[in-house]
Amino acid sequence: MTEPIATDPIATDPIAIVGAGLVGSGWAIVFARAGRRVRVFDADRSIRDGVISAIGNQLRELKNFGLVEDDSSILARIAVCDSLEAAVRGASYVQESVFERQDIKAEISAAISPLLADHALVGSSTSGIPASSFTETLTNRDRFLVSHPVNPPYLVPVVEVVPTPWTSAETVEKTMSLMEAVGQSPVLVRREVEGFLLNRLQGALLREAWALFEDGYASAADIDKTVSQGLGLRWCFMGPFETIDLNAPGGVRDYAERLGPLYHAIVRSRSDPQPWSDGLIGNVEKERRTELALTDLDQRRNWRDRRLMALAAHKADQDQGGASPMMRSRRDERQ
Ligand SMILES: NC(=O)c1ccc[n+]([C@@H]2O[C@H](COP(=O)([O-])OP(=O)(O)OC[C@H]3O[C@@H](n4cnc5c(N)ncnc54)[C@H](O)[C@@H]3O)[C@@H](O)[C@H]2O)c1
Repeated sequence: MTEPIATDPIATDPIAIVGAGLVGSGWAIVFARAGRRVRVFDADRSIRDGVISAIGNQLRELKNFGLVEDDSSILARIAVCDSLEAAVRGASYVQESVFERQDIKAEISAAISPLLADHALVGSSTSGIPASSFTETLTNRDRFLVSHPVNPPYLVPVVEVVPTPWTSAETVEKTMSLMEAVGQSPVLVRREVEGFLLNRLQGALLREAWALFEDGYASAADIDKTVSQGLGLRWCFMGPFETIDLNAPGGVRDYAERLGPLYHAIVRSRSDPQPWSDGLIGNVEKERRTELALTDLDQRRNWRDRRLMALAAHKADQDQGGASPMMRSRRDERQ
């Protein structure tokens, strides 16, 4: 993790979180965990009233997995504000996480813009709306971009940093550095593209999954198992390019020579993309509901988050070269 540069306000001044739902409250944990003061604003009073307790619960879970040490100090760095202005004025970076609608993003960006300090930057959590579609008319539009997280951002570190055509190089560089400094893993998407990188990659896999299911080649469960017990095991620590580089004696070129024609044939066999039809969705849903009742979705989401926490703890442990003393003692406590 890079040390904050004392003279640069982006490394020291408070962070503002605008919109404190699932993703915004997750971002608050990311920044506060890294030692930053965080000010949170949400337009919904009931969200403002409940957010500290929700974050406190998440922090306690993280502590149980050895992923944070002092949950109460982290929580103490997070303050809830009653107005947008109170959150944004004097902040060095604003993470906007309001509803995924272009008009709402445009409205909140226009409201944030005049409140910004001269050096302050704004990253939108949008999952797919290019920031150029909601920042064009702002006087300080060179300081807006997309910082797209994965939910929950305190467990899944990748952040897609996507500049608009008018975002300055300095904004991009400082946002990337900030994300590194708070322990995230930023990737730069050099120019705007629908779905950015993550959802385009996910979309390619989903497209094939739906098609294989529709054509009756396998059940949804077996398609899922191919990922959870196969592809996914490598993917949690290396990407598709590194995977194929290691999967042929002579590296990526050797792999491409051996299997390039097969992949080309696969891509050509899917040249006519169709929307996911209602009947197809119904068939997958039928199978999923026999595996997991609708009423059990929340329980299973909690299970997923605990698995993610265990995985994050394992990865942190491995990154430190084996069992670190903190991880060992936490693990021993849990057993
Ligand atoms: N949920 C995910 O998996 C996920 C992942 C990555 C990115 N995102 C993106 O993050 C953003 C937020 O998604 P979410 O899942 O947290 O939604 P959410 O509905 O849980 O939270 C959105 C919050 O924004 C608040 N809000 C709406 N308008 C506001 C305004 N004008 N000022 C202040 N607060 C306002 C709402 O009250 C709500 O609490 C969206 O752009 C979404 O696409 C979501």
